[in-house]
Amino acid sequence: MNLSERDKQVVWHPYTQIKGAVDTIPIVRGEAAYLIDEEGNRYLDAISSWWVNTHGHSHPHIAKKVSEQLSTLEHSIFAGFTHPKAVELAERILEKLPNQSRVFFSDNGSTAVEVALKMAFQYWDNKSEKKNKVIVLVGSYHGDTFGSMSVSARGGFNQPFEQFLFDVLPIPFPKKGEENKTISALKETLKADDISSIIVEPLIQGAAGMRMYSPEILEEIFKLCRERKVLIIADEVMTGFGRTGKLFATDYITTKPDMVCMSKGLTGGAMALGLTVATSEIYEAFISDDKLKTFFHGHSFTANAVACSAACASLDLFDEQQTWDNIARIEKRFAEFVAEMKGNSMFSDVRCQGVIVALELKTESESSYFNNKREEIYNHFLSKKIILRPLGNVIYFLPPYCINQDDVERVLLEIKEFCN
Ligand SMILES: Cc1ncc(COP(=O)(O)O)c(C=O)c1O
Repeated sequence: MNLSERDKQVVWHPYTQIKGAVDTIPIVRGEAAYLIDEEGNRYLDAISSWWVNTHGHSHPHIAKKVSEQLSTLEHSIFAGFTHPKAVELAERILEKLPNQSRVFFSDNGSTAVEVALKMAFQYWDNKSEKKNKVIVLVGSYHGDTFGSMSVSARGGFNQPFEQFLFDVLPIPFPKKGEENKTISALKETLKADDISSIIVEPLIQGAAGMRMYSPEILEEIFKLCRERKVLIIADEVMTGFGRTGKLFATDYITTKPDMVCMSKGLTGGAMALGLTVATSEIYEAFISDDKLKTFFHGHSFTANAVACSAACASLDLFDEQQTWDNIARIEKRFAEFVAEMKGNSMFSDVRCQGVIVALELKTESESSYFNNKREEIYNHFLSKKIILRPLGNVIYFLPPYCINQDDVERVLLEIKEFCN
């Protein structure tokens, strides 16, 4: 039996309907922007493996640091103990987020969000204030655990669990030209006194189809919430680490969040790690003689030393000008491509922000993740050995920053040809 056949006997894959599932592709090696299968076929990873990879696969610097860490300290309990890489990572992240003061570790994007929500609820509880509502933007995606599902769009992904999800206060997505609807809904919502927090994907709603909105509107949302002392949670799980053209999407604005969630690109995509970063005001609300004001949350692999060393190594690469030159190169080309494609009648919208370009195909059915164009688009690009996994009828290109210009051009050309 080959690897795919063995896989079929024992593995349950994520986000995959079992009935009719095609054979999985057995990837045995990663090299820069490529994933390579058992037979030596090279697939261009044009979506950075679910948006995690930043510097390329099997990056030698990250590999070296991870390997050194593995043979020095692989893991240690993190309650009552610490280790050099966790402290170094926290110091370096806080240097980049000057209004923040503490770093809490978890394992992935959903847990980073879960931690932020729990911190927000308990912050008010510790202050004996009854605030238990969360404002969300319509169409959000924040993860697959119960808290993160609660603050995400209701529908296909979480319908069987709906009865278990807590109520939230949705406000309209700030669609271009309709931003005033978002702002007036927010102002109305903020009249209530029981709001704990707002959570947003800053500038780009990823899973909703790479829906983009401006820094100005993000700033206005944050300002209104700050005036009402509603805690602001920026979910930078997808947008963090260069995707928007800056290290964080919130670097585009001056009103800073109270908490930032990060994962995905944090380790360059090499290891599973999540961080929830909080201000001193939040942290201090948990300091008490009353033991029940403790934040009782932690995972077995909290601040895993190998994952922290991968994150530090990835930050080393973000300290290099070459990384930012690559980001600027791709960003510039994507902006040109959007200008080129704007008049194309195949699309209802073409947009880009930083190192993400998205094209929304006009279709007869509703524009959504479940749009039946998805299979056709995915299979077409896979036949060209390009991994472009569309969000329904939205084709997007989100490459590792090390992708060379020829490969950028190749993907853009293939997109153009597909659409002609
Ligand atoms: C904005 C955002 N938040 C949270 C998550 C959940 O992250 P994870 O898949 O690591 O749990 C995702 C995943 O796509 C995301 O895009």
